Amino acid sequence: MERVWIKEIISKTGESVDLYGWVDNRRDHGKIVFIDLRDRSGICQAVFGPWSGKELYEQAQKIRNEWVIKISGIVKERPENLINKNIDTGKFEIEVKNLEVLNESLTPPFEINSDGRNIGEEIRMKYRYLDIRRPRLSANLSLRHKVVKFIRDFLDKENFLEIETPILTKSTPEGARDYVVPSRLYPGKFFALPQSPQQYKQLLMVGGVEKYFQIARCFRDEDTRGDRQPEFTQLDLEMSFVKREDVMALNEKLLIDLVHVCAPSKKIQQIPFPRLTYKEAMEKYKTDRPDLREDKNDPNLLAFCWVIDFPFFEKTDDGGFTFTHNPFSAPKEEFINDLMEKKNIEGILTSQYDIALNGFEIGGGSVRNHKSEALKKVFEIMGFNEERILNNFGHMLEAFSYGAPPHGGIAWGLDRLVTLLSNEPNIREVIAFPKTGDARDLMMNAPSELEKKQLDELHLEIKKNKK
Ligand code: AMO
Repeated sequence: MERVWIKEIISKTGESVDLYGWVDNRRDHGKIVFIDLRDRSGICQAVFGPWSGKELYEQAQKIRNEWVIKISGIVKERPENLINKNIDTGKFEIEVKNLEVLNESLTPPFEINSDGRNIGEEIRMKYRYLDIRRPRLSANLSLRHKVVKFIRDFLDKENFLEIETPILTKSTPEGARDYVVPSRLYPGKFFALPQSPQQYKQLLMVGGVEKYFQIARCFRDEDTRGDRQPEFTQLDLEMSFVKREDVMALNEKLLIDLVHVCAPSKKIQQIPFPRLTYKEAMEKYKTDRPDLREDKNDPNLLAFCWVIDFPFFEKTDDGGFTFTHNPFSAPKEEFINDLMEKKNIEGILTSQYDIALNGFEIGGGSVRNHKSEALKKVFEIMGFNEERILNNFGHMLEAFSYGAPPHGGIAWGLDRLVTLLSNEPNIREVIAFPKTGDARDLMMNAPSELEKKQLDELHLEIKKNKK
């Protein structure tokens, strides 16, 4: 017989079904044994009783939690007083006729039939493959899938192309430390893992792609926090021949439609999303990602807002200037002359737009400088000499001199968005295999040491820690 998913039994009263899954719980009531069977779609109760015969009944008594089994039986409606309102299949149960043990399990290091919030994170991460069996985590992974699928379908309809960009690349200046990969073929040289696909997506615009997106993995060697992981995922997109308003409008529509379809229990507080200038946000809320919820106790309220008109540059400790967001951003149109003449530097506002949700920054982007001369001025203001500019960004300046179209884009922190949609307290709960708070993978035991042979091939020598 074909496999039936547990959630499907509600439309199969009286039918014979084959179910596959894990034993969530077993209760032995003397004459009757109950097994809660779990698959990805849900949980249902299977019952072994006198009708099962001695052999099957004894087999059921031996079963333990997390064993993998196949049961064949009849879907029955439960009497009114035995309905379990806590599960979707609670009006039904399976009268078991046959049981097959597909695999036994050791006693798991923690319980799986709970939400797991009280279990220490170290152990959850070490046995993450067990942790993600729990329905809460499994629901988060399915929501994430739905969100990504919705984004893909939406952008496909809008004529975007999904294009992959390299993971082995050169450092991009996003302001965090790079993860680097030593090159075997070029001793002493290193690739960097991308902090974002920023430069590649702009080069795709030069390449005439016009509308690009990617569900992109990004890597930043910075201190991990509740809303930060060393590797995380962006919805990254870029469009040619657009103004700030075009990018903001498309993203606002995408977010609204996505919430309606993927998280229908959520209510968006205000549409169109309110807009604040950076100055207003700082004066009124003392943060550039304000939490505008009118009722902070309402778990289903989503308060999106745009923050715009950020200063382009900020002073560094040594008296120079650095960019506040993205060196590739264009200034607002009225400040182009200031940029080109390198004057009123602290007064220049960028075309940058950030999007905040309930007090978290969930995305940011800008219209870009698509002319080499303007981009070069940004680096000059930052005090880079000609040689450094050419070394680091020569490829971008050169590319822009071959007819780069005006363009702009944005990237969302996808993990953060899904975290907020699922009411989770941190992004680790919506990532299948996250790093721990101290940036390790306890399940794989990474990072780990390399063998001498590998180090030699990579021309690397490890300095002994001086104690
Ligand atoms: P930015 O650096 O602002 O912009 O990143 C975009 C969004 O990514 C999310 N984010 C993170 N999420 C989890 N862990 C992290 N360590 C982390 N760092 C950032 C945030 C943030 O808003 N290339 C530009 C975008 C552009 O201009 O198009 C960029 O990467 O939600």
